[in-house]
Amino acid sequence: MTFRIAPSILSADFAKLGQEVSDVIAAGADWIHFDVMDNHYVPNLTFGPMVCQALKPHAKTAAGVAVPIDVHLMVSPVDALAESFAKAGADLISFHPDASAHVHRSIQAIKAQGVQVGLTFNPGEPLDVLDWVIEDIDLVLIMSVNPGFGGQSFIESALRKIENVRKRIDASGKDIRLEVDGGIKTDNIARVASAGADTFVAGSAIFGRPDYASAITDMRKALAA
Ligand code: DX5
Ligand code: ZN
Repeated sequence: MTFRIAPSILSADFAKLGQEVSDVIAAGADWIHFDVMDNHYVPNLTFGPMVCQALKPHAKTAAGVAVPIDVHLMVSPVDALAESFAKAGADLISFHPDASAHVHRSIQAIKAQGVQVGLTFNPGEPLDVLDWVIEDIDLVLIMSVNPGFGGQSFIESALRKIENVRKRIDASGKDIRLEVDGGIKTDNIARVASAGADTFVAGSAIFGRPDYASAITDMRKALAA
């Protein structure tokens, strides 16, 4: 199993975002998680495609290897903004099925831009839509907090949901990432991996510490144990 750590820049210092992206990549980030909020689907407002485009040149290692920008859209409607993010350099775009009137169409619209696509599920939402579209997606993103804010506590029922998604992915026979978002810390990441997740978003647990490298290394040690 290849584990990926995706620091959420929602908890970074917005006054120096480019440097924060470079620093967290130097500290070992596998993906950069980019939380887009619209003050409509969620009661908070963050950043849009122009900020993604500005950060794209920073999303690479010192050796020049590109680090994927993992855009998590908490917006409604989905399609027009998703297209803007594809043009702004997003590598993966995830959206909430309840934020789109036509989930299958939104998936196809994102894929048509040459970008990988994910579906995101809130803590209180069923997974039924996966019965019909799992063959079409690259990523499932399970929310272990209600979306809108960093620094919330992990909701335990997410573990059962991750187990359910892992079974669906294995049954599909497809190479689909299983990402979890919200309240991930060094002391719960191993349990979340045991439930079947392979990709871990962490905002406050990384950017809230003075040394990003030790925060990421501690998570990798917990995963290896
Ligand atoms: C919440 C966001 C998360 C958030 C996670 O709506 O989707 O990505 O940044 O923050 P932490 O890791 O602090 O729970
Ligand atoms: Zn997120």
